[in-house]
Amino acid sequence: MKNLKQLYSATQISQRIDALANEISDDFKDLERPVVIGVLKGAIFFLSDLVRRMKTADSLQIEFVHLSSYGSARESTGRIQTPYLDLPNISHRHILIVEDIVDSGRTSRFFIDYLNDQFAPASIRLASFLDKPSGRVLDVHPDYTGFTIDKVFVVGYGLDYGGESGDCFRELPYLATLNLEIE
Ligand code: IMP
Ligand code: MG
Repeated sequence: MKNLKQLYSATQISQRIDALANEISDDFKDLERPVVIGVLKGAIFFLSDLVRRMKTADSLQIEFVHLSSYGSARESTGRIQTPYLDLPNISHRHILIVEDIVDSGRTSRFFIDYLNDQFAPASIRLASFLDKPSGRVLDVHPDYTGFTIDKVFVVGYGLDYGGESGDCFRELPYLATLNLEIE
């Protein structure tokens, strides 16, 4: 596809996640039953690659929510939609949120506040496959970041372009920039 340009290959992503999984495991290895919460849909591949590389004394508990702030546009709408937000009782637990990308920070801020309100967790940490600091509106800092990217729109490895035909390009095994100007 002409308007897709590879930014990180599947191999580069895999190597980065190896390192990230080691770093996260160091922090979580002795915690009691850590809860890993993936934010659908974008975090599917990142979460599945990450947790399979993590080494912790206790087994992980894996949960999902489906949050969305984009609608079909490329810019954040500012409103968080919650198509699926149904978690079991995870009060006072150690939580790792797994996101695809932190852009404006609205989705992460919403979810961190929600978890704090509902479950008074022992700790909350945020792992994001990508960090796009140029888009930041709210003060959110991932504790663990796969790659920091410039002000570009990316697709693949779970991230989509919600064009007229709906979610596109999520399934790509690599990360690519999408140039919509030359469509
Ligand atoms: P935030 O709430 O503005 O931080 O945005 C988070 C959501 O925006 C992500 O979960 C993505 O779905 C979407 N998003 C932000 N930047 C990109 C991008 O470059 N490509 C694809 N989706 C993006
Ligand atoms: Mg999206």
